[in-house]
Parts: sequence; C-alpha cells; structure tokens
Amino acid sequence: MLKRLQQKWGVSNSQFLLILCVFAITGTSTAYITKAITTWVGFTEDTFWSWRFLLRLAILMFGYQAILLLVAFLFGQFPFFWRYEKKLLRWVSGRRFQVPGEMASALPPFPKGEHELTAIQHRASNTLHLQSQTCPPLQISNLSAVADLKPVRRGGSQMVRIAIFASGAGSNARKIIDHFKNHSSIGIALIASNKPGAGVLNIAESENIPSLIIEKERFFRGDAYVSELRERNIQWIILAGFLWKIPTSLIHAFPGKIINIHPALLPKYGGKGMYGHFVHEAVIEAKEKESGITIHYVDEQFDHGKHILQLTCPVDETDTPETLAKKVLVLEHKYYPEVIAQLITGSTRT
Ligand code: GAR
Repeated sequence: MLKRLQQKWGVSNSQFLLILCVFAITGTSTAYITKAITTWVGFTEDTFWSWRFLLRLAILMFGYQAILLLVAFLFGQFPFFWRYEKKLLRWVSGRRFQVPGEMASALPPFPKGEHELTAIQHRASNTLHLQSQTCPPLQISNLSAVADLKPVRRGGSQMVRIAIFASGAGSNARKIIDHFKNHSSIGIALIASNKPGAGVLNIAESENIPSLIIEKERFFRGDAYVSELRERNIQWIILAGFLWKIPTSLIHAFPGKIINIHPALLPKYGGKGMYGHFVHEAVIEAKEKESGITIHYVDEQFDHGKHILQLTCPVDETDTPETLAKKVLVLEHKYYPEVIAQLITGSTRT
C-alpha cells in the first residue's frame, strides 16, 4: 500500500520517508499543542462539548496546516506540502492559487551498469528493434534508418520548443532536460504535470523551466490546454511517465508530434493501469524471458500508437519488479533523449 502511495505521489524512496516523518511529527505536535491550548484557555471535561469541539476544529484547520508547512520546511519538503496545501485552499475557496518558489528534492538513484545491444533488426512495422543482452551502447546512427525520423525544423535559427508531460518522479524528464540543456536547436520550454506533488515539478523549478499543472476538467472536457501550448509555441510533446490518456483534441492539434515511452515491449503489458511497477510485476509473473522499452507515437488509445523504437533486455529468473525496473530505466534514460533528438532534428548532438 505504501508503495502505491509513493507511486501516486511520484516521489523517490528517500523523499517518501521524509514525507512520512513530516506527517508523523506534525500529527504528534498538533495533538500536544491542542492539549496545551485547551488547558491554557481553561477548558476542562466539564466545558460544554461544542466549545471544545470548535476550538479543536480551529486548531486542526489552521494550526495543523501551519505546523505541517513548518515541519515540511525543516525536512526540506516544503514544495511537496505547499502544493497539497494549495490544492486544499483551492478546494476550500474555489479559487486558483499561484505557485511561489519551490525547492528541489532528491531524485531516485540512477541505476548503475551499461546495457549492451547485440543485434539490430528492422521489423515490418518499420520499428527499429534492438535486442540486448547486457546492452552495449546504441549505435545511434542506426536510428536514421527509421522512416519516421525526419527533421522538423524549417530553417531559421528558432529553437524547437518541447513540452515534457510527466506524472511522477521525472527521472526521464531529468535526462531529457540534461540532454538538451545546451542544444543548439531544441529547448525544453515547459514541464506539465497532472500531479501537483510530482517530483518532476521540483526538477522544473530547479532548472528554471516553466511548469504547468494540468487539471482534469480542462484537460478532458475543456480545450486540453491546446491554446496554452500554442501560446507558448510548443511544437513537440514528449510524454515521460505521463499517466493520463491524451485527449483527441490535443492529438489533432499536434499530429505526429506527441511521443511516449513505455517500460515494456508493446503491445504486451500496455494499456490503462499498466505503468511503473504494475508493468514489471506482470512481466515477471508471465515468466517472460525479455522485456524492454517501446518509444511510440501517441494516438487515442493508451500505449498504442505507431512504434518508433523498441529495445530489449533480458529478464533473469532472479529478477524482481524492482531490479527489472532498474534495467528498463537504464535503457529509457540512455535512449529516449537520443531518439527525441533524432526525431526532431534528424541528427544528434555530439
Ligand atoms: C517510466 O518508466 C516510463 O516508461 C513509464 O513511467 C515511468 C516514469 O518514470 N511510463 C509508462 O508507464 C506509460 N504507460 P520517471 O518519472 O522516473 O521518468
């Protein structure tokens, strides 16, 4: 259950532990302070119950929130809790609140070890499919063989502006940001997330990249943020662990310009609810001999559009969902930025 909560919040193990500490300390402190205040104002067991109730409610409504933020600050978790406080305030007041500055938080550890590609083959689908044993470095020049990898720049010196959509910790977003940091023609112009507490928003903050919280109503029943993305001159949308389905209007507004990465060999182990550890658990449960990643164009269905690239890695008998996830993440981190660069410019940065 705790693992699910951690996934939901999209935070690393260490951050999750700190968040639990903040809750525990806030709860205990609030109980203590409530007792002290009720004693100080002279309330006893004989005081009319509704007075005691009202005082406790007031402390809970205001004191708890204030203590929570204070403890969160001491534990370096202010941005996480502030986003939730804002959500609460928005809910209570029905108004929008602006995001003040936030601090960066720890990213999940980058898995060690290089993967090696041992065979390359083209599939009839035009997917470039690379198999790996321990995964040697990808000869990225091979990617130019894929029919869809065409440059999109149309002359001039304007940067191609990318928006990254992510729901979780954002380790892929981090790799993409790093890859394009000093790129001559591609820039990360926006980080969008549907989770106000997602780790990826901390990355955006620390990298000074504008961020956007995607709200369900506007995304699925409004304009799907098309106007906002157009205003920001976004040309490509890169999904990096974004767990909502992309609305048709957004797909139509960015035809062939939205891509996704999935931590398995689609079409297997994809679709609604298939993300993160659920994917790796299912792969291991099915006793698959190999897993990997699929990079694909996004269409109206979950994990479904035309494949761009698949990379495989072996699933060993001793693998657990966690060890498999690490292997798969190595592939994602290494190749997703390269594939994005190839797709957009037709050449990689050296
Ligand atoms: C990645 O493994 C990505 O493939 C997966 O979410 C993870 C995000 O990790 N995406 C899906 O499952 C999409 N169906 P990150 O937040 O550390 O980049």
